[in-house]
Amino acid sequence: MSTLTIMPSGKSAEVAAGTTLLAAILAADETITHKCEGKAACGTCHIYVQEGRKGVSRIAREENERLDTIVGIGSKSRLACQATFLGTEDVKIELLGFGSGL
Ligand code: FES
Repeated sequence: MSTLTIMPSGKSAEVAAGTTLLAAILAADETITHKCEGKAACGTCHIYVQEGRKGVSRIAREENERLDTIVGIGSKSRLACQATFLGTEDVKIELLGFGSGL
């Protein structure tokens, strides 16, 4: 288990290894757009991992390609539907406009 903290709301939740960031965000009653329902096709679940990057899975080629088409590759950018918790450290993410459904 590791702790997910969601900014800017400050909501947090205990998350089991293997859980996607998207599932954890939704379980924490946070709003996030996810139009393709986790198929790495829409990019609307884009979030920033602000702390604990080693606590989530490595970026896969499909996710990398999708991020490159929507925001360009940044070291903090992830698709919440593709990144999973490893359970090795706590993770803080940030939802900003595009990914938060605002
Ligand atoms: S929900 Fe569409 S890319 Fe994540």
